[in-house]
Amino acid sequence: MNNRITSPHSIESDGGEVGLRPLRLQDYIGQEQIKANLEVFIQAARQRGEPLDHVLLSGPPGLGKTTLAVIIAKEMGSNIHITSGPAIERPGDLAGILTNLQPGDVLFIDEIHRLSRAVEEVLYPGMEDYSLDIVLDKGPAARSIRLQLNPFTLVGATTRAGAVSAPLRDRFGVVNRLEFYTPQELQRIVTRSAGILGIAIDPAGAEEIARRSRGTPRIANRLLRRIRDFAQVEGKGVIDLAIAHDALQRLEVDAVGLDNSDRRLLLTIIEKFSGGPVGVETLAAAISEETTTIEDVYEPFLLQLGFINRTPRGRVVTGAAYRHLGMQPLGQGELWENF
Ligand SMILES: Nc1ncnc2c1ncn2[C@@H]1O[C@H](COP(=O)(O)OP(=O)(O)O)[C@@H](O)[C@H]1O
Ligand SMILES: [Mg+2]
Repeated sequence: MNNRITSPHSIESDGGEVGLRPLRLQDYIGQEQIKANLEVFIQAARQRGEPLDHVLLSGPPGLGKTTLAVIIAKEMGSNIHITSGPAIERPGDLAGILTNLQPGDVLFIDEIHRLSRAVEEVLYPGMEDYSLDIVLDKGPAARSIRLQLNPFTLVGATTRAGAVSAPLRDRFGVVNRLEFYTPQELQRIVTRSAGILGIAIDPAGAEEIARRSRGTPRIANRLLRRIRDFAQVEGKGVIDLAIAHDALQRLEVDAVGLDNSDRRLLLTIIEKFSGGPVGVETLAAAISEETTTIEDVYEPFLLQLGFINRTPRGRVVTGAAYRHLGMQPLGQGELWENF
């Protein structure tokens, strides 16, 4: 399932993703508000000769959180250390990382909502005043000493802003939520990537890929690579509208970017639960999927399209989704009969 062509998660065939990553803020397309603010904060911190305040980036997978973290370090002229919530198992692991930071370094913690409570406790004084409390000995002889760390910037990324604990979130000076990209922005990203990969593409071809990429640069880049294969083998080597349209159809990505898994989810709500409301656990069981996958991967984009609504009693499929699937909303017909 994670290998589907429209998965926003990184998959093995994305190998060359690294080469497509913009390295400077000016090459980072879209997210204009976030970019403009960061530019000011970075410039101000540099002028003062201080590290940038801690930055929290949230948003669905594939929108450019890791990319932005790397750019922040580059623009600050700093080194970046990359780790993730699940990788830091014990408080001692984090202490080791923090004591190794050089002045001004950027520490990037991906999936920061998955840090354990005990590890978070170590992070707090580190974020607040670059200090580390170490407990020596055990039992009655236990005492703690305070170590001074080098000043650093923590950049945290999360797909679930709501799962970041309040005390942790409060310690970030800059909190940014990345949004899905517009088709125009994705068209620029596709065109830029095609240039880097040496793929010939015309504006209509790029627009078609952009429209069907679920607002997600990682998916746009992946579709571009696959469609290149069709252009090479069955076309004249140029991705135009006809090639893009045909290839996307064969990859079973529909006009708004939904694939079979999305359609199956919508159809399950419609057919097994009369369009909803249905609780996310029940839905997860019905389509044999993890609850978190539904919440982090499927739902953000379906909500954005207005194809489902979240209600206190569960998920509901909207009229727009019925129309997209070429179906008649159940409720409407019934209403008419009642008249
Ligand atoms: N704003 C952007 N401009 C251009 N390319 C982008 C942008 N954001 C993301 N990308 C592309 O999408 C890929 C996935 O981005 P990434 O930072 O790994 O997402 P995330 O960490 O949010 O899952 C990157 O390798 C990059 O090629
Ligand atoms: Mg990432």
